[in-house]
Amino acid sequence: MSICRGILSLRLKGPINLISRWMSYNVMHPGRHGESYGDVQIKNKNICDHSKEGILKIVGNLISKPHPENEPFTVAEYGAADGSISMELMTDIICLIRSKCGKNKEINIMYEDLPMSDFNSLHKRIHGIIPNPRSYLLDHENVYVTSTGTNFYKQCFPSNSVDLALSFTATHWLSNKVDIFDHVYPYFTQNKDEIDALEKQAADDWVLFLTKRTKELKPGGWGVFSTLGTRDATEGKPAFVAGQDILNKLNEVWNRLFSRGIITKAELKRGTLGFCLRSPRQIEEPILDSIEIQNGGLKLHEIRLDTIPYFLEAEWNEMFRQGNKEREAFARDFLKYLKTPFYSTFYEALEGQRNEEQKLQICELLFKEARDFFLSKYPSEFDIDYIVTTTYVFKE
Ligand SMILES: C[S@@+](CC[C@H](N)C(=O)[O-])C[C@H]1O[C@@H](n2cnc3c(N)ncnc32)[C@H](O)[C@@H]1O
Repeated sequence: MSICRGILSLRLKGPINLISRWMSYNVMHPGRHGESYGDVQIKNKNICDHSKEGILKIVGNLISKPHPENEPFTVAEYGAADGSISMELMTDIICLIRSKCGKNKEINIMYEDLPMSDFNSLHKRIHGIIPNPRSYLLDHENVYVTSTGTNFYKQCFPSNSVDLALSFTATHWLSNKVDIFDHVYPYFTQNKDEIDALEKQAADDWVLFLTKRTKELKPGGWGVFSTLGTRDATEGKPAFVAGQDILNKLNEVWNRLFSRGIITKAELKRGTLGFCLRSPRQIEEPILDSIEIQNGGLKLHEIRLDTIPYFLEAEWNEMFRQGNKEREAFARDFLKYLKTPFYSTFYEALEGQRNEEQKLQICELLFKEARDFFLSKYPSEFDIDYIVTTTYVFKE
């Protein structure tokens, strides 16, 4: 039986299982069993590295002020996945503190992610059982590591306990999904009412995230939150969303599955991504409007908007320049990279009554068709630059 006929012959009955969808659209899916987030996504480090200089400057300033002798310097990372992306940054932070405060200064590194996250790989990496990138714990004493499977829309650590709060490529995930028919990336909807509701949710979530961090930060502590974003429209130039060609292609393929009768209308709608790639305006306005943030003493220092060339594009352009025209390898790498953040959304969109095999077949079909498109292209043929926003805040 063909995949399509198998899927089409399925009869759907009863309500979908909402419980299993709780916050699961944002679970990362690195691929094969045994593969961890950093095995596939290590190049996201480009985004983390981008703000490294600014972060180290903040740490330098923080430790130049009198820091209570027997109080650890505490770094918290939110949406940390398996800790691979920030490993080198954490090492640099530790080295800087060691160089200024000596080897006895206690350093506390606290990782946060969702309860379903792969904490096993995080701890294996921190203890060097997964050896690359090299863990700081192998080279430094008096460094204490803890992790919590919480949800960064809640308070995750005790009040006034954090010197430096960090997050990379995570704060665009929303606390809840708003499903729409128009597009897999909801902010591309043409419906004005939907846009207003979506904008409100993104603003409320951002304020909620910052309000919780405000509680956790020590007075004088800093937060640096970097993630993919949108460049606002300017005169004559439309807004540009990080990776927008990818979002449009996924939308096209998902819609094609619906028009071919492979997925239902309800599934089409539920295949909506639960994130907002905020623009500097969407980052700044909610902060300035929030009494709660102001009362908590959190101040906005700076919002940076940078364009980082998409790493695969740069790599493959270089290979093409050297005469290697391996489209297959490009499409394969690209798809693996895309699946990690997107797979769960589409998997969770499928009706609860479908059996596991059918769900896997539909997801494979979606990503195979996206892969076939990329297979027919060269990286330079589509616009996938990374727009990265970095928000610097401090608590008075
Ligand atoms: C794209 S990964 C980024 C991981 C890593 N920080 C990096 O720089 O590549 C997004 C991470 O955010 C986490 N995440 C999404 N929503 C979250 C939430 N509400 N609370 C905590 N973590 C969340 C996901 O589980 C995932 O590990």
